[in-house]
Order: sequence, then structure tokens, then C-alpha cells
Amino acid sequence: MELNPVQLYFEEYGKGIPVIFIHGFPFDHTIWNPMVPILKDKMRMILPDLRGFGRSPVPDGVYTMRLMAEDILGLVNLLKIDRAVLVGHSMGGYVSLAFTHAYPNRVAGLALLSSQAAADSPEKRQGRYQTAEEITRRGNKVVAEKMATKLTNRPELTSQLEKSIMKTQAKGLIGALKGMAERPDALNWLSDICVPTVVIAGEADALLSMERNQTMAQLLGKSWLVKLPEVGHMPMLEAPLQTAEAILQVVDFVETA
Ligand code: MLT
Repeated sequence: MELNPVQLYFEEYGKGIPVIFIHGFPFDHTIWNPMVPILKDKMRMILPDLRGFGRSPVPDGVYTMRLMAEDILGLVNLLKIDRAVLVGHSMGGYVSLAFTHAYPNRVAGLALLSSQAAADSPEKRQGRYQTAEEITRRGNKVVAEKMATKLTNRPELTSQLEKSIMKTQAKGLIGALKGMAERPDALNWLSDICVPTVVIAGEADALLSMERNQTMAQLLGKSWLVKLPEVGHMPMLEAPLQTAEAILQVVDFVETA
């Protein structure tokens, strides 16, 4: 497998233990904005845009989770970081797991938000290829129509999320959709991951079942589950204080280890 990493755009805030915040599909680093004022005095926050999103390069091809993990490795090396805590939201969680599997010695702790380790079902995979095909015909609104109302049940957030989907490049959306469709099952990697890990799950997530979060928390070597009542797929926007608190638990654990 040939892996050609790209140099990612990133922003950085604060000092201390390095924590890389990896956004989900189809967003960019700005999704973490509510976390910055709460956490920047407690850690070194590094907020990249994954390939295809925000201000990072938008190459051709399929963005496999492993390839996106390689981009993160490039960033970690560029910043001369030995070990970092990874905070991954949804697709960012898939990338975090791929990174941890490939480079276990570079990870000090994990926070997985609204994410899962299981691969797609055949129907889900098929649906992603279909969406990718529809985007080439009808543009980004296909993704906005399918996702925006399922991301959160807070109408005041929906239009912000829609805007963010609409400004992403179609090529980036397609690359990531195909990459997620191709991702391998990571369930049997979990017992080898022994760094402190918090699994953060919204109890009202319409895109991901609590069961998938629970399974992940059970199979990981050293993990705990934080359930957020009435929260959908976007805990960092819907419950920023509780989400920040859960991320801090991991950072405290790593600092005192
Ligand atoms: C995400 O939020 O990153 C996506 O919902 C993940 C997915 O489609 O599996």
C-alpha cells in the first residue's frame, strides 16, 4: 500500500500536554471552537483540518483512514511531538484508531466522541458509494440533505452545520466517503489499546447507536464511557462543558501516570 501523506493545515492554542483534536465528516477544525476557550489553559491544543477539508490540501483519490492517519503522523513529526493524546470525533475517531493501531507508541491517551470501531455494514457501504455518486451530479446539498437534521436536534445548530457542509469541496467529501466505506473492522484492535481512553456518547445520537459506543468501551483495554443525556452526534457543540470535562479526565490520567 502506497501512502502519500500531505501537510495538513492546523491551528494551535495553549501549552502543556499535546492533544490533537481530529474532526469528523464533513467538517473541519472549527467544529472544536467551543472547546478552545475552555481547554486552552490546560493543554496544548492542536487542531488540524484533515485532507479534503477546511484549509488542507484536497488531493484526488480515496482517503482511507490509514492514509489520513499518515497525514496526522506527518503533523506529529513536524511538531516534534513524541506522544500525544488524540481526540477523535466520529470519522476523526476512525482515524484515531487507525493511527493508534499503526503507531501505538505515539499515543498517550484517547477520547473517542460519537465514534465506533466496527466497519460499515454492506448496506451502509453501498449507501456511501451512492452518496458519492450523487454528489458528482447534484453537489454538496446531497450531504446536507442527508445529514444536517440527523446531526443534532437543536435547530439553532443545524444551519451552522449546513453552511459548513456546503463550503467543503465535493472532491473532499467523495474521498472521505469512499475511505470510510473501505475502512476495516477495528474491533479486534481494541484489546491491544491500553492507553486511557474515554468514549463520549450522546444518548440522542441519531447516527450512531449507544450499543456501538458501549461495545467499544468494553473492548478497549483501559476505558470508560461518558453518556451525555439529550445530546446528539455533536457533543462538542451540544454539551461543550461536559465534553471538555471528559477530555480533561484523560489528560489528567496521562499527566499523573
Ligand atoms: C462523522 O460524523 O464523521 C460521520 O457521521 C461518520 C460516518 O459517517 O460514519
